[in-house]
Amino acid sequence: MKKEEVIPFYGSEEKELFEIERRCMDRSGKVLEYLKKNLPYGKILDIGAGNGFTASHLNDDHRRLYAMEPSDGMKDLDQDLIWSKGVAQDIPFHSNYFDGVYSTWAYFLSGDPREDIGIAEALRVLKSGGKLIIINNYGEDEFCSYMNDDITAKASYYQEKGFDLDIIKSAFEFDNIQEAQKLMTHFFGIKCKDLLNLKYEYNISAYILEKL
Ligand SMILES: C[S@@+](CC[C@H](N)C(=O)[O-])C[C@H]1O[C@@H](n2cnc3c(N)ncnc32)[C@H](O)[C@@H]1O
Repeated sequence: MKKEEVIPFYGSEEKELFEIERRCMDRSGKVLEYLKKNLPYGKILDIGAGNGFTASHLNDDHRRLYAMEPSDGMKDLDQDLIWSKGVAQDIPFHSNYFDGVYSTWAYFLSGDPREDIGIAEALRVLKSGGKLIIINNYGEDEFCSYMNDDITAKASYYQEKGFDLDIIKSAFEFDNIQEAQKLMTHFFGIKCKDLLNLKYEYNISAYILEKL
């Protein structure tokens, strides 16, 4: 794993802020519900697993979750997961190993052509008939309306590669105004410091592909 292959992420230094993000984004658990419904049973790889939040909710008698994460500071090793260190561009498993592979808001964020490498790697480690799911910001919602930079995935990029798109309608829901202002200001700057809403409409894209 080369240092330049890792996309910097604030979560390992600002644990308190990341805890707010993880707790409040998709509060009703619609992404977990989608992944439970659409991922096959068997061995499942989470690319850029962060602290293992999603993987730990999917781990059960039917699915064994492998959490791959490049940043040691992000990992919560108390989670009952099979942890590994690696990047989407160079996955440290042999070919045709997993029944399902997914990623939530990690690496596959920009629609940048370099993502081709990550998609090829994900498909390499996936068995034939297995499913690849990439979860991202869809945009066209209240949450993304505050952004200065485009943080939405490019639907056309994934659709040209044969992925289907499902749109998950969710929300950021905060427990109090202070944490809403803190996280929104961290994401979008000073213009959010006086926001008074606890709930922000948030649309999430799920790109899904079955390996032939
Ligand atoms: C926005 S966080 C998402 C974490 C987790 N998937 C979640 O939903 O909570 C992005 C994660 O991607 C990881 N990451 C950074 N560069 C990566 C790469 N090249 N390949 C895979 N993951 C990467 C970061 O360390 C961070 O944990």
